[in-house]
Formats: sequence, C-alpha cells, structure tokens
Amino acid sequence: MTERKILLTGAGGQIGQILTRALVDKFGKENVIATDISENPGFENTYFRLDVLDKEGMQRILEENKITDFYHLAAVLSATGEKNPARAWEVNMNGLLNVLETARNSKVDRLFFPSSIAVFGEGIDREKAGQNAVLIPHSVYGISKAAGENWCCYYHEKYGLDVRSLRYPGVIGYESMPGGGTTDYAVDIFFKAIEEGRYTCFLREDARLPMIYMDDAIRATLELMDAPADRIKIRTSYNLQGMSFTPAELFDQIRKLQPDFKIEYRPDFRQKIADSWPRRLDDSAAREDWGWEQKFDIAKLTETMYRGIKNRQLQKS
Ligand code: SER
Repeated sequence: MTERKILLTGAGGQIGQILTRALVDKFGKENVIATDISENPGFENTYFRLDVLDKEGMQRILEENKITDFYHLAAVLSATGEKNPARAWEVNMNGLLNVLETARNSKVDRLFFPSSIAVFGEGIDREKAGQNAVLIPHSVYGISKAAGENWCCYYHEKYGLDVRSLRYPGVIGYESMPGGGTTDYAVDIFFKAIEEGRYTCFLREDARLPMIYMDDAIRATLELMDAPADRIKIRTSYNLQGMSFTPAELFDQIRKLQPDFKIEYRPDFRQKIADSWPRRLDDSAAREDWGWEQKFDIAKLTETMYRGIKNRQLQKS
C-alpha cells in the first residue's frame, strides 16, 4: 500500500473530531493533517487554521504535504443555513469548488464529500427515499449538498477524480457536539436528560428521521474510502441508513434508563425542515456495492449514549 497522507477540512466539527481521531489511529499521527476555521480544538496531530474559501492556502497545504486522501467536511448545516442562506451557499458551494479544483490540481488519490438526507424534498417516497429519487430540497443546505454531489460526479467523469460521498442521516454521538443541524435534538436530549432531568424538544413528537450512531458513520466513511475504486458505482452520493425514530420513541428509550425523565415539545422553524426530509433511506446500493451494514439500533444507541455521558461526568467529578 502506498503511504497515505490525509487532510481534513472542518476537522473541529461533530464528525471531523471523531474522524480525525479514527484516521490518526489507522494511519498514524504523522500522516493526518486537521484543518478548521477556528483555533486548534486540541488535536495532537498537525493542525492548520484554514478557511475553505482560501483556495491558495488550501492548495499550498495539499502540495507541501503531498496529500493523497482529502476529507472535506467543512459546511454550514441546515438550521444555521436558513438564518443566513447567502453565507451557507458561499461556504458550502465555493468551499467545495475550491476543494475539487485543488484536489484535481494536486492529483490526490481520493476525495470524500459528505452529503445528507437534506438533498431530498418534494416528490419522494418519504417512507423510503430511493437512491435515485428526485432531489428537490427545501433548505439552502440541501440545495448546496444536491449541487455538490453533482459537482463531485462531474469531476469524476470529466477529470477522473476519485470522489466518494455518503448521504449521512443525522449523526449521533457524545464525544463531539453537533452545531446548527435539525437532527441535533437527538444528541441534546441525552445531555439534558442527565444534567437537568427534562428536555424541551424543538421537533414534534412524531418527527421520524433517519439517524446513525457515530461509530457506524465513521466506519461507513472509512469502508467507503477503502473500497476498490471499481466497486464505487455511484459518484454522486450513496444513501446511508442507520435507524429511524421519532423524538417520542427516543424519549421512551431514555425513560427505560431514567424513569423520571420529562419531555415537552415546542416545535420551531426546524420542524419545517424535518417535514421536508425522508423518514428512511433505501441504502441497498451501498450494501450491494461496498458491503455497508449498520450495527447500532435505537436500543444500542440509547444505552451507549447514556452510559458514555454518565461515565464522562464521573471522570470529571
Ligand atoms: N444533521 C444534518 C442537519 O441536521 C443533516 O445532514 O443539518
């Protein structure tokens, strides 16, 4: 195997922090460079401050470090995007175009681009969004991800760039915090249960959405990037399904561990975003092409989140 040199953008984000750690474990600290727009959140491997709109800075890092594998995670998520659509478009779209161009110029071996359930909207089977369902998104985040997937496919076809992508469901973990997403309630609820014994949910109790536990999301990403190129038949983005549940179902699971936990529902603007998203994805293409299989269901996720947060609190006190 030729040596891999890895670069991440958005490494300080919810997925970025955990993916950086997983890549360091797999390829060694000296082979992974983390970047983000903020100061180093505490990485031990090499870290640079990088705004994805700074194309020259990005090109320099790629070339000086002879990067082979590029993970572009930086993005403005769905809820934050609705507050400033122009900014979300600029970061998500121009950021990606900078990544695609610099990756092509530097001849990286592989590029990863995270897409999302947010690409879906009008005209889909909401109970099971197909791999090739129409993409008529309602959020600026969704529009940017749908356009982004197509740009990735274009670079693959036109320039032979080995771009790979997943449509992540809501990602749930306790070691890094999500920021600005519609699925963030499914992380917040655990912290509020343990710290305050009650939670006010910004989605309706029956808002069913596709979700995935962090370990599964990271494993899916690494498996996709490890798969031989000829197994990757889809160059827009693969549907990825972990589990699907409503806030009420998650509440019931948490109540098994904490019977006095209380919840109240006060849906806000994020409910409208959730309403436009599918309740489940059909990920059979990912299963067939590169062997995707999820390991966490709602019971295992709840147990792992709850115990994980409790243990961390015990360690701190
Ligand atoms: N978790 C993301 C969000 O809620 C969806 O990709 O914005």
